[in-house]
Amino acid sequence: MKTLIQNGTIVTATDRYEADIFIDGGVVTTIGKNLKVAADKTLDAKGKYVLPGGIDVHTHLDMPFGGAFSVDDFQTGTIAAAFGGTTCIVDFAIQERGHSLRHAWETWMAKAEGKAAIDYGFHMIMRESTPELREEMGAMVKEGVTSFKLFMAYPGVFYLDDASIFRTMQRSGEIGATICMHAENGPVIDVLIEQARAKGHKAPKWHALTRPARLEAEATYRAICLAEVADVPVYIVHLSAAEALEQVTAARDRGLPAFAETCPQYLFLSYDNYEEPGFDGAKYVMSPPLRDKAKQKDLWRGLKFNDLQTVATDHCPFCMKDEKQIGKDDFSKIPNGAPGIETRMSLMYDGGVLAGNITLERFVEVTSTSPAKIFGLFPKKGTIAVGSDADIVLFDPAGSTTWSAKTHHMNVDYNPYEGRVCKGAVDTVLSRGEVIIEKKLFVGRAGRGEYVKRKAR
Ligand code: URP
Ligand code: ZN
Ligand code: ZN
Repeated sequence: MKTLIQNGTIVTATDRYEADIFIDGGVVTTIGKNLKVAADKTLDAKGKYVLPGGIDVHTHLDMPFGGAFSVDDFQTGTIAAAFGGTTCIVDFAIQERGHSLRHAWETWMAKAEGKAAIDYGFHMIMRESTPELREEMGAMVKEGVTSFKLFMAYPGVFYLDDASIFRTMQRSGEIGATICMHAENGPVIDVLIEQARAKGHKAPKWHALTRPARLEAEATYRAICLAEVADVPVYIVHLSAAEALEQVTAARDRGLPAFAETCPQYLFLSYDNYEEPGFDGAKYVMSPPLRDKAKQKDLWRGLKFNDLQTVATDHCPFCMKDEKQIGKDDFSKIPNGAPGIETRMSLMYDGGVLAGNITLERFVEVTSTSPAKIFGLFPKKGTIAVGSDADIVLFDPAGSTTWSAKTHHMNVDYNPYEGRVCKGAVDTVLSRGEVIIEKKLFVGRAGRGEYVKRKAR
């Protein structure tokens, strides 16, 4: 299949120029002005931005968590991602207690195979750190699982103590892998939760009130120190607190390989959402929680000056009418997570680029190029260049998108941005040269997505 994209404005992390793109066999083979080539399909991109497909390196599809399963599986979740202009995800396989890493990887491969509509890779969540598991990390890297997520939060569920974290970090350093860290002080948070429950506090807002920003900052600092001594890069996932960002900035100023991602929810939603009437605050129960609106400017500054390198979603949806009800009478039982796989690119364009917080090139960088570079996908993914996969989005700056649970494609019964109008719209999406979104329709196929073996450092 040969495809020609004509007349568009190509935007990468570094360039913006008008040119045509010729795609053959799923990869970009020629970029130039007024290309004269024989193509099977020609797309006219006049007036449109031609962007590298979004890469979301933090999703939880079909994930068992908090007594439920996240409600998007690899079919509904990746189709929603494609509608939103994302063409590659890195999801989290979860090692079960007493089971191997390979068992986890194969379980998650089976969840994705036959369902994923876009390409996918996996990080590995390690619930334990035994000598056998640490040895096995090397075999996982050979399979393309080159990053391991550890938790300083959720005692009894995912939490690892500092010694286990440190040993796992050392092993990660030996084999060229990256540590992804959920940085919140879980044991202290559990004390605050216990005290709040003892006082009879039940409402969703108590989820946020028992997870103070300082405990995210403390864990972030500790993670960075442990990683420094273990001599391994550390990537702080879903950073929400300006106080935590200060720790990342200080580490980077010292020349450490400390990286951090934030998520649209921390840039566009705030603690105020927990004060919505009735049980509605449960829509926003996620960890870390939403923070003060006044601090969002610090996150934007971090994104602008590269102290935050990526924007991912932490997409982990639960329905308000079903799963979230588990915590109706106890905030600490509300399944943690919110939807976002479809809304990320739109929000970052409207609220990031058009609002003057970041440039269009930086938008491409934080939503596609940097994630690809940090997680071993570049230059196959994350840019538009000769030899790269033709994962491409034609984005219409003259269009607009109104977000609503009634019209979104995520399999969840609410949208955290209900009613928000975002200028700009995803027009056409190509995955490895194949058009999968056209005229607001999914024209791809579930199961066409391929596993991407990621490189180690
Ligand atoms: O609340 C969240 N973030 N749910 C997903 C699991 C995690 O910690 O990333
Ligand atoms: Zn996490
Ligand atoms: Zn997550």
